[in-house]
Amino acid sequence: MTDLRGPAVVVTADGSRTLASPTGEAYKSLRGAISEARSVYLEGSGVGDRLAAGSAADVLEVGFGTGLNFLVSATAAVKSGAALRYRALELAPPSAATLSELRYAELLAPSRLPGALIAWRAGLGMSAPAGWNVFEHDRVTLELFVGDALSSAWEAGDLRQVDAVYHDSFGPANAPGLWSGAFLARLARLLRPDGRLVSFCVAGAVRRALAAEGLQVKKAAGPAGGKREVLVARRPAA
Ligand SMILES: C[S@@+](CC[C@H](N)C(=O)[O-])C[C@H]1O[C@@H](n2cnc3c(N)ncnc32)[C@H](O)[C@@H]1O
Repeated sequence: MTDLRGPAVVVTADGSRTLASPTGEAYKSLRGAISEARSVYLEGSGVGDRLAAGSAADVLEVGFGTGLNFLVSATAAVKSGAALRYRALELAPPSAATLSELRYAELLAPSRLPGALIAWRAGLGMSAPAGWNVFEHDRVTLELFVGDALSSAWEAGDLRQVDAVYHDSFGPANAPGLWSGAFLARLARLLRPDGRLVSFCVAGAVRRALAAEGLQVKKAAGPAGGKREVLVARRPAA
């Protein structure tokens, strides 16, 4: 039977909000949503350093969810004036009303990005159209693919290699296909030399699958007060 309940808003340990699915899986770490977005994804991927140096960055995210990883990365890009191309895959984008309840405009003030993102999401209607939807703000471009990341549809067209993959979907217990060797290989092949795939998930099978694709895989220290270890898998420089 279809579960018609939507995700619920929860407050995490650093005061920032996230969502929890009807089955109880949190979208971001309950030990700190924004701490995780900054530490594991923006900084762990090297994208933060690239943007701070004024270099353009290309990111692919699996599991856009609340958009917090995007907002944190895009805010860094706007601050430095660097260009950010951010592609994200999402089966069920939360509604504009749900995004408003997360209060990311307050969290990231004075950034105008959260408000602009919510207005754009509202314009897509309750069920956002399947396929690519584009949001632009300063030198930031978000291309949100609405659909199943396991399909091959998002790989058609202009899919350049990326500096970073943010793998932030539900975990292997709830979304096993997104952690299969075959899917991880598709992600790994998109990384440029020196590009990094980062994730909260450090499962041995995931690390072995990425190493089999030629990536240098390590467990890095997690955010203060958060998960002890997180994943960084780097494609060696050419
Ligand atoms: C852990 S949450 C995402 C957290 C997100 N990065 C954030 O900043 O809020 C996982 C997301 O993956 C999405 N998802 C689950 N299975 C998917 C699939 N097969 N294809 C695309 N998205 C999927 C869920 O709808 C959910 O929004």
